Amino acid sequence: MASLTAYEQLTRRLPDQPARWLVTGCAGFIGSHLVETLLRLGQVVVGLDNFATGHQRNLNEIENSLDASQWRKFLLIQGDIRDPQTCRAACEGIDHVLHQAALGSVPRSLVDPLATNAANIDGFLNMLIAARDAGVHRFVYAASSSTYGDHPALPKVEEAIGRPLSPYAVTKLVNELYADVFGRCYGFESIGLRYFNVFGPRQDPEGAYAAVIPRWTRAMLLDEQVLINGDGETSRDFCYVANAVQANLLAATTDNREAVNQVFNIALNERTSLNSLFALLRNALLEIRPEWTVPPAAYRDFRAGDVRHSQADITKARQLLGYAPTHRLDEGIRMAMPWYISRFS
Ligand SMILES: NC(=O)c1ccc[n+]([C@@H]2O[C@H](COP(=O)([O-])OP(=O)(O)OC[C@H]3O[C@@H](n4cnc5c(N)ncnc54)[C@H](O)[C@@H]3O)[C@@H](O)[C@H]2O)c1
Repeated sequence: MASLTAYEQLTRRLPDQPARWLVTGCAGFIGSHLVETLLRLGQVVVGLDNFATGHQRNLNEIENSLDASQWRKFLLIQGDIRDPQTCRAACEGIDHVLHQAALGSVPRSLVDPLATNAANIDGFLNMLIAARDAGVHRFVYAASSSTYGDHPALPKVEEAIGRPLSPYAVTKLVNELYADVFGRCYGFESIGLRYFNVFGPRQDPEGAYAAVIPRWTRAMLLDEQVLINGDGETSRDFCYVANAVQANLLAATTDNREAVNQVFNIALNERTSLNSLFALLRNALLEIRPEWTVPPAAYRDFRAGDVRHSQADITKARQLLGYAPTHRLDEGIRMAMPWYISRFS
């Protein structure tokens, strides 16, 4: 894909003096990659997490991969965004917030909509208020492709959304509404990033709510059969985590006024069926472990709340943020596979 030029441009945009960043959900999958990249860039990072779905081992992994001098610039606050005081304390003296903390998963929200609502809406509003009152320069937040709901158009364009298909999708839509209103009522600067199926090392493979790539990779490595929901022709725009990190840093640092108080699709503008994804994962595993046998996948019912097809139009992020994804799906899978192999060996 694109060279690292966009990334190089981005690192030049960072101030000479390190800025102070708050990453919520820092012990989770995407949050931990944000922390790692920022620390590598010499930034000062506060992380906030209640370890609901995140893990201390993700932070240990970052610590082990960095110099002691880089790691010293990280401060962990173990706390809950449902508590307004915690959010206030975390936002004190912060320049940029990258808000990732939330309860993910459509199925989880169908089982327990109250818990999803509390973390994703109450917690989000607490963070917005705390960031506004602390005078944070920019608030970048994890929005979601689930906001497109039942809108049939493909690829998905930011302005055309349908009705939400799950409680989780409602929460992510409400986040966008609150961020927009804070822009208009208080002049507060935010940017929402609608992630489309982000994947990569440290995405949790365990539990009932694991995402498809870690769940299937785990199954392949543990000699369990992969189960495909529906006929396997359901499709997604899978996005390697480095692309999502790039989008966050661009959004936090852009001085393009047209980009502020907007939402952006973050993905590749590619559509991959679950059947093709299964083949890609199996091939990537067999490249490293040729002796492995991966049995054919089995098919089961479609899953409630799932949209049939998803593909992002990324023109807006390209034009207004300078977003240029550096990793295609197959490249991302090759980057992630060794991590999963070491996790299960
Ligand atoms: N991974 C994806 O494909 C994807 C797609 C669309 C949107 N998103 C959004 O991106 C963000 C990050 O997702 P992820 O995949 O890294 O998930 P994750 O579960 O790995 O990370 C979420 C983190 O938030 C923390 N958290 C949850 N509730 C909290 C609370 N009340 N207080 C403090 N911390 C809390 C968890 O402990 C966890 O560390 C989420 O907002 C998610 O909804 C992710």
